[in-house]
Amino acid sequence: MTSTMPANAKPTVELVVDGTARPLPVVAASEGASGFKVNTLLRDTGLVTLDTGFTNTASCESAITYIDGDQGILRYRGYPIDQVAEGASFLEVAALLIDGELPGAEALEAFEQTVGKNASLPDGFGAFLAALPADGHPMATLAAAINALAAWYPEVVDPRDGAQVDSATAMLLAKTATITAALHRRRTGQALVAPDASNGYVADFLRQTFGDAGGEYAAEPVIVDALEKLLILHADHEQNCSTSTVRVVGSSNATLFASVAAGVNALSGPAHGGANEAVLVMLEKIRSGSDTVETFMDKVKNKADGVRLMGFGHRVYKSYDPRAAIVKKSADEVLEKLGAKDELLEIAQGLEQIALNDDYFVERKLYPNVDFYTGLIYKAMGFDPAMFTPLFALGRMPGWIAQWREMVNDPATKIGRPRQVYTGETERDFVPVSGR
Ligand code: CMC
Repeated sequence: MTSTMPANAKPTVELVVDGTARPLPVVAASEGASGFKVNTLLRDTGLVTLDTGFTNTASCESAITYIDGDQGILRYRGYPIDQVAEGASFLEVAALLIDGELPGAEALEAFEQTVGKNASLPDGFGAFLAALPADGHPMATLAAAINALAAWYPEVVDPRDGAQVDSATAMLLAKTATITAALHRRRTGQALVAPDASNGYVADFLRQTFGDAGGEYAAEPVIVDALEKLLILHADHEQNCSTSTVRVVGSSNATLFASVAAGVNALSGPAHGGANEAVLVMLEKIRSGSDTVETFMDKVKNKADGVRLMGFGHRVYKSYDPRAAIVKKSADEVLEKLGAKDELLEIAQGLEQIALNDDYFVERKLYPNVDFYTGLIYKAMGFDPAMFTPLFALGRMPGWIAQWREMVNDPATKIGRPRQVYTGETERDFVPVSGR
């Protein structure tokens, strides 16, 4: 394949099939890798592209989030993640991702109020949650609960109606926090606490989660700030597994609720968002088991029983995940301030130290990802490990919504329907069971 860019012509690449050159149009990126379109390849050549795991396939054009995996760069709508995490609130970031621009003070206040007004759960929703096992995995319950919202609010499910989508957006941002707090309270056998948005989004989420029976909670500023930052760091990450799921489900004109509920399910896997819980389980296992940090790392390198160093490696980042760098700093600060510096942090630091200097990890460019240190902060805040991935989902909600809205409004969107390379039996005659 060659790239041809004659002066004054739209750039194309040429694919030579059986001696015939096929020009394929290039879609230029504003930054990062440009793409060439293959939509008509099957029609023109009888060939499909095969890209297992989509390691080299762009599924859409997007203007939301930019990642440079080699340089460890992450930007939301052009703004570097460290600046956003330092200077913005979570809802401000949600508005940025969804609308494309930072909101002015008035617009931000209006957005916060709209979200705040939607924080309560509808009548009967408490009974619905109570019907699910309190000790079941909260990701299963979260997905079910978000999906069920569509049954309570059928008047806001039309993906083609902008006003309905705006309402569904506010509901999802607000109610996911209320539901996530409810999941913690059910796991800990406590009655739910009603939301009060006047406290601010993050502080009220913490109050609903950890408040006493009367809903009283003295918010520790260091915890509110750390959680705000963590939610921001998780808010979007372009076309990852759960976001791609949200887009594919939405491409069938399914509701925003159905699409993001599917995203929650995709996120639950330990190779994706479930890694934050898996990291803590791994650290606990090292602490309480017979492995030392060194013997555990030997197992990882020998791929013994498929053991992986959870919280390490990334499809896109081939250098330090910029989110992990911020989280690591935050973990040090939060644990120090809360006096919660614990053995697990030391084990995590020991694992990282070995990994950063070991050929196995260096050659494969495996660095800590966002999930490596987050669990330690969540644990210090009082969350049990099963709640870590729901917290990731809460943070990712603005990104899922922004990506879904971009997909719905993109005239190029088609139903997500990949092809396959069939490798099964060719035609053969059916044999009745008596003859087999
Ligand atoms: N521990 C040990 N070896 C690893 C790890 C790891 N965590 N990650 C990748 N490798 C090895 C892998 O065995 C392979 O080695 P070889 O070339 O000898 O076969 C090589 O590195 C390439 O790995 P891959 O599985 O082909 O890479 P991928 O891009 O398909 O997978 C990943 C990316 C994130 C699924 C993977 O790195 C992984 O399983 N990490 C652990 C789980 C984790 O922390 N996930 C969170 C990802 S970031 C947040 C999020 O997405 O939610």
